[in-house]
Amino acid sequence: MLADRINKIVPSATMQISEQAKKLIAEGVDVINLGMGELDFNTPDNIKEAGKRGIDADKTRYTVTPGTLELRNAIASKFKRDNNLDYNVNEITVASGAKQSVFNTIMALVNPGDEVIYISPYWVSYPAMVSLAEGRSVIIESKTEDGFRISGRQLEDAITDKTKLIILCNPSNPTGAAYNKAELEELAEVIVKHDLYVLTDEIYDKLVYDDFKFYCFAQIKPEIKNRVIVVNGLSKSYAMTGWRIGYAAGDEKIISAMNKIQSHTTSHASSISQEAAVEALNGPQVILEKMLSELVERRNYLYNELISINGVKCYKSEGAFFLFPEITSLYNKKLKIHSSLDLAMYLLKEARIAVVPGNAFGAEGYIRISYATSMDNLKETMYRLKKALKKFE
Ligand SMILES: Cc1ncc(COP(=O)(O)O)c(C=O)c1O
Repeated sequence: MLADRINKIVPSATMQISEQAKKLIAEGVDVINLGMGELDFNTPDNIKEAGKRGIDADKTRYTVTPGTLELRNAIASKFKRDNNLDYNVNEITVASGAKQSVFNTIMALVNPGDEVIYISPYWVSYPAMVSLAEGRSVIIESKTEDGFRISGRQLEDAITDKTKLIILCNPSNPTGAAYNKAELEELAEVIVKHDLYVLTDEIYDKLVYDDFKFYCFAQIKPEIKNRVIVVNGLSKSYAMTGWRIGYAAGDEKIISAMNKIQSHTTSHASSISQEAAVEALNGPQVILEKMLSELVERRNYLYNELISINGVKCYKSEGAFFLFPEITSLYNKKLKIHSSLDLAMYLLKEARIAVVPGNAFGAEGYIRISYATSMDNLKETMYRLKKALKKFE
């Protein structure tokens, strides 16, 4: 009955775990959910008010496919302000979440049989999207000791005459690792040399800690700008996951191809959400400071606790809100824990903690822990985790 393409993709594993945890919570079980990909902050009031004003002003009709001019101007100003990049409104397109922006980019660029290079651990939706476009995934593995980053040499080794697109997730979901300027320059050199395109998923660009300076890939050198499609959105930086606003910027020809696809699928992002998004980008940015100071405290706490567990290795991430500890030393024959999935299931059952197994991100031997939850929850998590691990002795 169903089309063949359905067999090539699996439902989002992160959503599955999160749903299982939510189900248990709804049944009254005291589960701490560390599987989430969304922050525990509410959308700021000024943004919510802008959405309400949009409804009252009857901004409830179709907008143009790439999004209102006002919103695209606000996005252009964001690029200028944060990244010193000049985009005109025809080089920007708004979608219903960054996920749709990623999908539209891949659909606009990838032909059947084209190779798309990305790095594991990867964001769960890249393989499915490449597969829906009938492209071929070429995955470069990165590890804790590399800081979950790849070098120009590793990228060059993966390139063939079929390579079309590189996907970079910076800062990364699931590892939180981010590339510095020199590392991006090294990758950019290879991309220009081989005449390729890059989709850089920068949805966590504002969530970086300590003194880390984030650079948008498109600003790295002038020759790279037209080869880069920058994807970003408001879901994470403004705690707006449910509003569904993402955007992409790049070469006008690619952006108009993406608009063509969108005009026959979702048409455009919600008109009301677009009103709210203008306020998010142009209005006061106080939420960010508040979020960052809390998130860095949580990351530091969780990181120190994790590395204090015998045998656990963990990279201290630069950004996003995840840690990705390596947990193979916790595999246990007696308790029948032979994989990251076994460990995640054990932790859900024994400690009532929901984490995501690394195999969801193409990285067996790790788990993803989200710290988009309160310090109290994180402290309780570590108490439960250590108690559950006592049974391993
Ligand atoms: C790396 C990455 N890209 C894109 C998205 C999608 O964001 P949105 O909710 O705006 O579609 C997410 C959300 O989890 C993400 O982690």
